[in-house]
Amino acid sequence: MDNKYNRILITAALPYANGPVHIGHLAGCFLPADIYARFQRARKRDVQFIGGSDEHGVPITIRAMKEGITPQDVVDKYHKIIKDSLEAMGISFDIYSRTSSEIHRQTSQDFFRKLYDDGIFEERVSEQYFDEEKQMFLADRYITGTCPVCQNENAYGDQCEKCGSTLSPEQLINPRSALSNAVPVKKATTHWYFPLNKYEDFLKTWILEGKKDEWKPNVYGQCKSWLDSGLQPRAMTRDSSWGVPVPIEGAEGKVLYVWFDAPIGYISATKELLPQAWDTYWKQEDTKLVHFIGKDNIVFHCIIFPAMLKAHGGYILPDNVPANEFLNIEGEKVSTSRNWAVWVHEYLQDFPGMQDALRYVLCTNAPETKDNDFTWKDFQERVNNELVAVFGNFINRAMVLMHKLCGGRVPAFHEEAKTDLDLQMIQSLQTSKKIVTDSIENYKFRDALFEVIDIARRGNKYLQDVAPWTLAKTPELQQQNQQLIDNCLHIALQLTANLAIFINPFLPETAGKICHMLTVVNKILEWENAGRMDLLKTNYPLRPPELLFRKIEDAEIEAQREKLHAAAVKKTDEQAPPDFLPVKETIGFDDFSKIDLRAGTIVAAEKVKKADKLLQLQVDLGFETRTIVSGIALHYTPEEIIGQQVTVVTNLAPRKMKGIESQGMILMSEDADGKLVFVSPRDNAAKNGAVVS
Ligand code: 2FM
Ligand code: ZN
Repeated sequence: MDNKYNRILITAALPYANGPVHIGHLAGCFLPADIYARFQRARKRDVQFIGGSDEHGVPITIRAMKEGITPQDVVDKYHKIIKDSLEAMGISFDIYSRTSSEIHRQTSQDFFRKLYDDGIFEERVSEQYFDEEKQMFLADRYITGTCPVCQNENAYGDQCEKCGSTLSPEQLINPRSALSNAVPVKKATTHWYFPLNKYEDFLKTWILEGKKDEWKPNVYGQCKSWLDSGLQPRAMTRDSSWGVPVPIEGAEGKVLYVWFDAPIGYISATKELLPQAWDTYWKQEDTKLVHFIGKDNIVFHCIIFPAMLKAHGGYILPDNVPANEFLNIEGEKVSTSRNWAVWVHEYLQDFPGMQDALRYVLCTNAPETKDNDFTWKDFQERVNNELVAVFGNFINRAMVLMHKLCGGRVPAFHEEAKTDLDLQMIQSLQTSKKIVTDSIENYKFRDALFEVIDIARRGNKYLQDVAPWTLAKTPELQQQNQQLIDNCLHIALQLTANLAIFINPFLPETAGKICHMLTVVNKILEWENAGRMDLLKTNYPLRPPELLFRKIEDAEIEAQREKLHAAAVKKTDEQAPPDFLPVKETIGFDDFSKIDLRAGTIVAAEKVKKADKLLQLQVDLGFETRTIVSGIALHYTPEEIIGQQVTVVTNLAPRKMKGIESQGMILMSEDADGKLVFVSPRDNAAKNGAVVS
């Protein structure tokens, strides 16, 4: 840790309490945060590790609607499931709180009030959709209608889940209220906007100049792209009955925007934990604040929350925000709505006592720099080939050999019999300590864990090279070689004690088991002890070895795969539209002939910034080249469609998408797997501009 810091405040993103946590949550933020917290505690740093459930926002109210219960019932149910799962996984929060707590209401209202009193907010009246039947304003998610991009009739006011386009309610064709199916009307409503634009200069200096070499490239890159495209004022209040009430007069029926109150949740949880000392952690410049999050939270933690803290004044800003990318499952993106996920509470039921195995696999395969894939096969291979065959095997061999050849006690080390192999083994531990320490300090947890496994790998090689069992083949030989045998097992056992220290931040349960076998107290796990070769006293009796890990059988992973697919298929069956949509009402030839369809060729294509699903195309129509924005980016890369002939609706009114005017639409259909395919002339044989009829 840099000298400028005297304490560390670690936060892990607050999961929405609208469902259980899955392994993507663990890999994304909880596990790295926990490894970092455990490591810093082992370094005797003053650490507080803060977490909790995010209990406000539209996802909670939607879940309540689906389950026919109140939002409070939803958060009570899932807060408990999440808290228990994280505890069972060994995530060592100093507090796991919740944003529906009284202390959070007070803290977030005080925060808002201070900004309000300081005249920071801009008050704006805007027209928003209102459900007259339900007498309430509709959040974007509560409005459904037809997607202007792909014509999906069940798109939401913020997104179309079919083609992935980001939408605003105004773009929906035939909008309806998801609550009553009524046609919503526009009604004026007042909201308070945080002028992010006024903090652009501050953020540019702080991030673009100050954090370029410190923050991970994915985090820095996302911030730069937001800052380069210019920041806009953002509404910090919503019309809703679920959330923290806006604490000013005339704001009845309004609550704080969930992304305003959620990060303040870190502050309220610290207050709850340390009523007297919380502000030392939040207000003193010698505190290192580190937010562990997933990549979808970057803008909130790097731009919006810091700007809020800056506007409020008196608070420190994060030193780092080590965001991870996403963890896919068996080649597909996690989807809670499709139930394509490995749920932590279910894993714990299916693999009791095996939380460290999951921690191991999720850390070695963590999406630190890019999206990664979790597969059950890989889980089995890493557990069996690395944890069992390398790490567990080394410790087991050292213990078994010591009981067999050294009478169950730690043998003495005889300096006069020291060999080069012994020396190399001892010295390499120092190098490893530096690598592991530096890697964790720099948030490179995979590299650190690989190095720890490598220590065990070298330990196995060392045992193999010295081969004490050969030195003790006969009683005579053993007597003759006892000093060499003692030295080898002395080193192997000191190495075992070191492995307990090194593995502790990653696999704490395993570290505890090793300490138990070695009959040492957990205090040896302090980091300053790593690298020492006198952790175990000579002649000290040790317990019999126990296996640290067990192998994963083929049948177990087969069962998990089946479970994953069966659960996902069931959901899909429930939700899927029928195979073929009903044919629309009959139209006359005149109506049809109004549509101008032409053949064209895509001559250029590029991704649209900040829209995962959109491609901007240049389409040659023979008589002119048009810009068309199409929601096909999940199905095609720009490169692969250049030269593709397509059918274009050329007389559709132009429409702006992500600031780009789209001058037409490309006809697409679906193949049997749901992939979008072009409706195009065979072999690109039509003449560009030719009428399609
Ligand atoms: O994306 C999410 O799951 C949010 N609930 C994370 C909130 S993090 C923090 F700001 F509270
Ligand atoms: Zn769509």
